[in-house]
This record gives sequence, structure tokens and C-alpha cells, in this order.
Amino acid sequence: MYAPTAEPGTVQTPPASAYQDQARFAAERAAIFGRSWLVAGLASSVCEPGSYTTVDLAGMPVVICRDRDGALYAMANVCQHRGMLIATGSGRARTLNCPNHAWVYALDGQLRGAPRTTREADFDCASITLPRFAVHQWGPFLLVNLDASAAPPLEHLATVEQDLAGAGLTLETMRPFGEVVEWTIEANWKIVVENYLECYHCAWVHQDLARVIDVSAEKYVLNPRGRLLSATSPVRITGETDRQQSLLSTDGPMTGSHWHLLYPSASINLYPGRGALELTWYLPETPGRTRAFTALLVAPDAGTDYADQVLALLTRVGEEDNTICESMHRGMVSGAIARERVLPENEALITHFHRLLADDLAGASGPR
Ligand code: FES
Ligand SMILES: [Fe+2]
Repeated sequence: MYAPTAEPGTVQTPPASAYQDQARFAAERAAIFGRSWLVAGLASSVCEPGSYTTVDLAGMPVVICRDRDGALYAMANVCQHRGMLIATGSGRARTLNCPNHAWVYALDGQLRGAPRTTREADFDCASITLPRFAVHQWGPFLLVNLDASAAPPLEHLATVEQDLAGAGLTLETMRPFGEVVEWTIEANWKIVVENYLECYHCAWVHQDLARVIDVSAEKYVLNPRGRLLSATSPVRITGETDRQQSLLSTDGPMTGSHWHLLYPSASINLYPGRGALELTWYLPETPGRTRAFTALLVAPDAGTDYADQVLALLTRVGEEDNTICESMHRGMVSGAIARERVLPENEALITHFHRLLADDLAGASGPR
């Protein structure tokens, strides 16, 4: 799959077909999204005992339940009789009841009852459970790994928590601002992630962002560390302070910006000023379409003006990124480019991303 690099000074990338091919897409879903920690939404939907929520994670229908003892479970939302999806939306329930033939599952996925099965020889409820996944609550967020044996990415999450702690903040005390925003990008998920991983484009594409933070090659520092691909950048020293502060008030304990990708597709951004955390996660829907979700948390003492500024800035940046990602996708599937040319210095995190992709697709699994 990875032919030798043809041109010196560039990094080997997959062929353009990898951005549109259905078989490659299915392989990525299985080898990458089927074995990585994915954001599954907000924990607020399952904070009460006896509550549940549902989510589709890259083609897997998932139900997350908190049972009456407070234990959290993530399971396939797929009836083990004939495949009906069991739960919809979010809510409270004593059991999960399949709407098709009324099989009843406990909130830990164990089958408790199935009508008329006393007529069936050897039918044993105790032997049937919903397939379980790994689940981890990180502050207000739910993370799920479809590989039930996966250990939570505590080390990577701790790195983000240390960035917050440097500004005197904790994930638990930050408060949500607004609802989770959902949108669609007409581009392959790898194009979306690659775009996130480089700020080479920022000076031209994100001119407001570039007024607030220093996006120069010298100050925008890239730091790949396993499955957390990070960048940091200070607030820009500018001669147009009023214009800068009207975009984002950078006075406060968070003195710079932090940009983390929790591989494969969750971005965690910390904004300067009073402090804000944006979590945006991407889920591939088709080879040419990616769904995206954004949640925003702000420091407990942050005013609405600051939160509004962060929201406006991240929305603007998101729209700008959408436009270029959709354009790059159209170009990549046009047949007019054989493969991307990734620049080893300016786009070093993309190089790292492609190594992780290649490892996962080859089945060379390290800690996830
Ligand atoms: S498919 Fe669920 S009970 Fe039949
Ligand atoms: Fe961007």
C-alpha cells in the first residue's frame, strides 16, 4: 500500500484512492475506529442511575447505560435475536426492551426475558448478552472504545488536564456553554484530520485566529506523543491590540493556546484568556462525508462576553476549515493528484498521523 516516496523532501502518504475507496473506508472503520477511543457525547445524558443514551460510532449503534448501582456500560444497541436496534434517543428505563419481539435486557446488557421461549428447547437467557465495549467518563464527556479490552487513554487525557491545571483550571469545574453543535463536512475524514493537524494554512485561511495567536512556524510548536498529537502557540504580540481583544480577550490565566488531537479524530482545543476548552470530534459517515460535533466548556469565572468570543472565533475557524476541506476533497478525488505532498517540517503531525494509520491498518497494535 505504501510505495516508496517518489520525491525527496516529502513524506509518503496514501494514494488519492484512499480518500474515496469504499473498501479502504471499511478497513479504516474496522482497524482504526473499531479499536480507538472515540468521543460518544456528553455524560450529562447518563448522570442518573437508570438512564441511557444512544449514539452511532462509525457505523456501530451504541447504547450507554448507567445502571441502578451507578455503573456505566456501553454496549451494541443491537438485539441479539434478529438485529433490531433496541433503544432510541436518551431517557430513563429500568430495562432495555426490544420493540420487535419484546426481548428484555438489563441495563448491563444481560438478556432477562424473551416471550414464548419456554416453548424452545435449550433456550437460555443467561447465555445471551449485548456485546460490551469499553467506556470511560472524562469530566463531562463520554469516551467509548469498541475494543472492550482497551485501557482508557489516561496518560493522554492527563496531558490535557495538566494544560488546564497550568491555568488553575480543572475539567470538572469548567462549565458547558451552549449545546453540542453538529454539522457535516463533505470530505473524507482523513482530510479533515490532516487539516486540523497543520497550521501552515492558518495565516491565510484563519486571519482572525492569526490575529489572536501566533501561527508563525517559529512559535506554533508541534509535538507528536503517541496517540496524542499536540501543538501549542502563544498569544500573538501585536500592534493592533484593540482589534485583537475585540476578537478574544486574552487577559487571564491561560496564557497560550493548546491544540491536541486524540487519535484518530477528537480535537481538544484550549483557548487563551480566562480559559475555554473546545472538544470537536469527527466520525466518518461515508468515504466522502464526515460528521462533526462540537462542545464548549469555559472557565467557571469566565463571563458571557468571553464565552461568546470563543464561540464566535471557533465557529468562524470551523467554517473556514470546512470550506478548504471540502475543496481539498473534491481535488483529491478528481484524478488530478496522485497523492498529497506532506511537508516534513511544516506538517510534521500529518506525518505522524499517517504512521499511526499505517500501523493500525497493518494490524501492528501498540497501546491505544
Ligand atoms: S429482534 Fe429484538 S426481540 Fe426480535
Ligand atoms: Fe484550520
